[in-house]
Amino acid sequence: MSDKAKQLYDELIERMKEVSIINSCEALLGWDERTYMPRGGSAHRANQAAYMAGLTHKKFTDPRMGELLGELAQSDLMKDEFSDEAVNIREIKHDYDKEVKIPQKLVEEFTHTTTMSQGVWSQARGENDFPKFLPWLEKIVKLCRERAECFGYEKEAYDALLDEYETGSSVEFVSKVFSGFRDDLVGLVSAIGNSKIKPNLSIIESAYAVDLQEVFGRSAAAAIGYDFGTGRLDLSAHPFTTGIGPGDIRITTRYNPNHLGQALFGTLHEAGHGMYEQGVPTEHYGTPRGAATSLGIHESQSRMWENQIGRGKPFWKHFFPRAQQMFPEILGEVKFDDFFLAINDVRPSLIRVEADEVTYNLHILLRFEMEHALINGDLQVKDAPSAWNEKFQKYFGITPPNDADGCMQDVHWSAGYFGYFPTYTLGNLYSAQFYNKAKADIPGLEDQFAIGNFTGLKKWLEENIYVHGQRYRAEKLVEVVTGAKLDHAPLMNYLKEKYSVLYNL
Ligand code: CO
Repeated sequence: MSDKAKQLYDELIERMKEVSIINSCEALLGWDERTYMPRGGSAHRANQAAYMAGLTHKKFTDPRMGELLGELAQSDLMKDEFSDEAVNIREIKHDYDKEVKIPQKLVEEFTHTTTMSQGVWSQARGENDFPKFLPWLEKIVKLCRERAECFGYEKEAYDALLDEYETGSSVEFVSKVFSGFRDDLVGLVSAIGNSKIKPNLSIIESAYAVDLQEVFGRSAAAAIGYDFGTGRLDLSAHPFTTGIGPGDIRITTRYNPNHLGQALFGTLHEAGHGMYEQGVPTEHYGTPRGAATSLGIHESQSRMWENQIGRGKPFWKHFFPRAQQMFPEILGEVKFDDFFLAINDVRPSLIRVEADEVTYNLHILLRFEMEHALINGDLQVKDAPSAWNEKFQKYFGITPPNDADGCMQDVHWSAGYFGYFPTYTLGNLYSAQFYNKAKADIPGLEDQFAIGNFTGLKKWLEENIYVHGQRYRAEKLVEVVTGAKLDHAPLMNYLKEKYSVLYNL
């Protein structure tokens, strides 16, 4: 490595670390906004967030960054494409090239609008008042299109937005992977619907004291490996994970006093995200090499702990007796098999975040189609509620009774996250493929779960996923880790095997 290249690289990293410090302050403001901030603070918080975003943009798009990246991209540091240096240069350059294309004014307008609109969305959702949210959503779609035009794209505007969450992905790739498993999935959902076996939902839909749910959820999150010494668990309207910085990774959940599963599986989900953030190499903090691969890979981590583990038999062999002790009046006389079936209830439902692991993907297909159509102009924002309800009837056989439980249920669009939804189902697909490999690598893995030992899987994830940061992009990581390209078969087979037994198909 030449001294000159080394010097330029060090300067690049120093600048990146400064950007990361500002970003982490913004993350802390965002966490506060969604947990403890009084509603009256939203206008001022919007100003703070817009200012911080503007500052980050200015630092990151400094012409000096362009000079450094231009020289480094041609340097001998790029020789080994998966070295720490090459990875950082590649990914910083990718983000830089996108970011310099957006004028500062648009960055600030986007941040200000989305911050304000989240407050409006939250109120409009509470009042089931789509017309109140409509002008904001129209403005956000317009701003997203403007961003896509600034970024540039080869085939269509949505590709440019998707690339922000799943670098290098495209409508073409996503549509192909999704449609590959759609028919199988619809078949499975309908077979389960026709099964004579029906879970007794009163087992989990009962009066579960919230304080005890919290104790139970915390103990489960700690058992699978979420570190409370470097993490927190708080309440928010929509559960999320945020990394403030090394040693400070926070998750949230929400409790339903009449349901055991909603908070528990939400907590396991966010704990899976949190463990990934806690596990990326801190020595590379502030650079791509020390950051999660992509949102899809992130989601593979949360989904694995929530579904493959948290809704699996071995997990409950350990935790069911503990749940019985904690909630003796509800669960004391309940049989294991009845409980296990109840937590694996599959049926069409309105709310994505409460959906089972089989129908969940239909919620994502619907959103992907909707937002793709909104961005490319096939669908007008004012027609979103009717388009949503029509699709919902088609896929789920039910029509949402109102927009609050229909097209207004998720925070994503109000936050400007167009291109985000597909990463959930990509995550499910990655997750199944990773988990198969982990089971093959670790004999008796699930026997360990049954005695409450989850360290084997966590260690495997550390060594195979967390450690890489952004060394590989998502598609490549899947190949490196599993030796095969992304395929829908592992997820479909997992669902078929599990639910054929449960529902006697
Ligand atoms: Co998630």
